[in-house]
Amino acid sequence: MPDPLTPYGNKPMVTPIVNAVNYHYASFEVLRRITDGEIDGYTYHRDDNPTVRQVEKMIAAMEKAQDCIICTSGMAACSLVYLSFLSAGDHIILFHDIYGAHYKVALALERFGVRITWVNADESAAIERYITADTKMIFCETPSNPLCKIVDIAGLSALCRKHSALLVVDNTFATPFHQHPLALGADLVVHSATKALGGHNDLMAGAICGSKEHYDRLWFSRQAFGTTLDAYSASLLERGLKTFEIRAEKMAANAAAIATYLLQCKGVSNVRYPGLTSDPGHETARRQMFGGYGGMMAFDVGTTIDDAKRFIDRLKIIYHAVSLGATESLICIPYLTTMLYMPPECRTTFGVRENTVRLSVGIEPSAKLVNDLRQALE
Ligand SMILES: Cc1ncc(COP(=O)(O)O)c(C=O)c1O
Repeated sequence: MPDPLTPYGNKPMVTPIVNAVNYHYASFEVLRRITDGEIDGYTYHRDDNPTVRQVEKMIAAMEKAQDCIICTSGMAACSLVYLSFLSAGDHIILFHDIYGAHYKVALALERFGVRITWVNADESAAIERYITADTKMIFCETPSNPLCKIVDIAGLSALCRKHSALLVVDNTFATPFHQHPLALGADLVVHSATKALGGHNDLMAGAICGSKEHYDRLWFSRQAFGTTLDAYSASLLERGLKTFEIRAEKMAANAAAIATYLLQCKGVSNVRYPGLTSDPGHETARRQMFGGYGGMMAFDVGTTIDDAKRFIDRLKIIYHAVSLGATESLICIPYLTTMLYMPPECRTTFGVRENTVRLSVGIEPSAKLVNDLRQALE
């Protein structure tokens, strides 16, 4: 029977949104071949979905991975990594400089018997002393959220291999346009695809890229836990991916111009952008990133949280909002937003201040953004 979507062999330019939850089997022989893993058929949405699968293949190619698993959010992806590779009694090393929701996940992991050591990304070169015989995983972000601290991926990878631990890198800030952690020795790459991969503030998704062996283990957990993305969001993500490279290029160019401008602004201090030669992470970033340094930066405004609030209130083009990697520029005070998950005393321990703002640069004309910042700082 001809495929009703492609009766003459023409293929749709856009992957169809397959909303079906289940599929009727062509025969018992097909059912057997699917369940025996001989063929890649579809049976039930929680297992797999053709629209989602297409996007997994696209992101795997972008990260130069053997395969990719897509979940309902970035945190679903991170949680799936923890739940798939850790057991009671294991020890893991997490960086304080990661997205705040990990603190909540860490509480659950501790309840299940996983021991956690939190380290500062600034001391990543000296973390071997925290590794024990039980250390099974090191999880980091580079550039990190929100201070854009840089961790040497190849260095950490060598350490992880020496101690048989998995290295997981969250590549959300860098994006695959600027950094390929797997090529630098990481075992798994995670993404909040809600951010630059989707790019339009209209979908929530997460991705995990790695080897076929890791894919199989993650697939098994996703199928069990039920965090498979819906087909409509996958279709939006596919659409976002089609313009990802051009958006990433523009975001990085805009961010470089803005960071340079901010360096000479009165009332602005501690500009953190890995593309600046003055940035403490620049040398490492130059070695492991390419084609620019992404669209994320952080800086301090004035000396108090009220200075930062007044500055944000005066912005006319840059939106006061959380999230990042979108077509529009977004700004927020991490102390009041993305770090709310942490106890207040932890929020300012590793360089973030109450008056630190995090800027996600969009694809607007850069002069418009610089002018907006100028009028708000005046
Ligand atoms: C670096 C990073 N990783 C993971 C996440 C979690 O992603 P999601 O909001 O899609 O669950 C975020 C969210 O902001 C993030 O910034």
